[in-house]
Amino acid sequence: MPTPEWWLDETAHAGPEHLDADYVAGYDRKAGTDFTADLALLRGLGMDGASTLVDLGTGTGGLALAAAGSFRRVVAVDVSPAMLAVVRSRAAERGLANVECVRAGFLTYAHEGAPADVVYSRNALHHLPDFWKAIALRRVAAMLRPGGVLRLHDLVYSFDAQDAGPAIDAWLAGAAARPEVGWTAAELATHVREEHSTYTWLLEPMLERAGFEIREATHRPSGTYAAYTCVRAGR
Ligand SMILES: C[S@@+](CC[C@H](N)C(=O)[O-])C[C@H]1O[C@@H](n2cnc3c(N)ncnc32)[C@H](O)[C@@H]1O
Repeated sequence: MPTPEWWLDETAHAGPEHLDADYVAGYDRKAGTDFTADLALLRGLGMDGASTLVDLGTGTGGLALAAAGSFRRVVAVDVSPAMLAVVRSRAAERGLANVECVRAGFLTYAHEGAPADVVYSRNALHHLPDFWKAIALRRVAAMLRPGGVLRLHDLVYSFDAQDAGPAIDAWLAGAAARPEVGWTAAELATHVREEHSTYTWLLEPMLERAGFEIREATHRPSGTYAAYTCVRAGR
């Protein structure tokens, strides 16, 4: 089916830095993410060597590559060719034959084969405005088997709109001093201004409306990050 004229261009909304090979080369140091706890959580939910995982907005593939030893099939999806080049080269270096790299996004990835047991996404959904998030979450539900799990992390605001000023100021005040080792106040300000982080009290009904039951929700004390473990309802 042809893409409608009004469909969002995901690459144009991906954040220009994610398309820049120099930024991507320094990404892991900057992000400093440890995916061990998420992998343990997924194993604890019964995922094993028979399961399929799709990582949407995989970035340099931290979770996807770590999951390759525990899952039968891992699909690492991102709109950024520079990010996927890193995932591909690391998968080859490590001899991980069960990691597939797909250049696509929330709104374009077409899952093939058996439905996924897990969709994972960390800090990527905020690239879409809310209208598109709702469509993206429906698409995620459709690629999962009934009972399948969505593990979602994102920059999401859990404060009320009237408290936004002090909450964002406090967040920026605790930002990294140097961009090599974290996100600086200027980068976080750009995030608030130009990207599409939403409120938890909008995202949570959106998840439910897309067909998910939220089994666990964690809101960080800063009020600027949330993580969800959701199960796709239905049989
Ligand atoms: C902040 S990085 C997070 C990467 C990785 N998930 C992590 O936690 O380290 C955001 C990633 O989302 C990707 N991205 C942006 N828009 C996207 C979209 N519409 N669909 C899929 N990925 C997208 C970017 O290219 C980038 O790799």
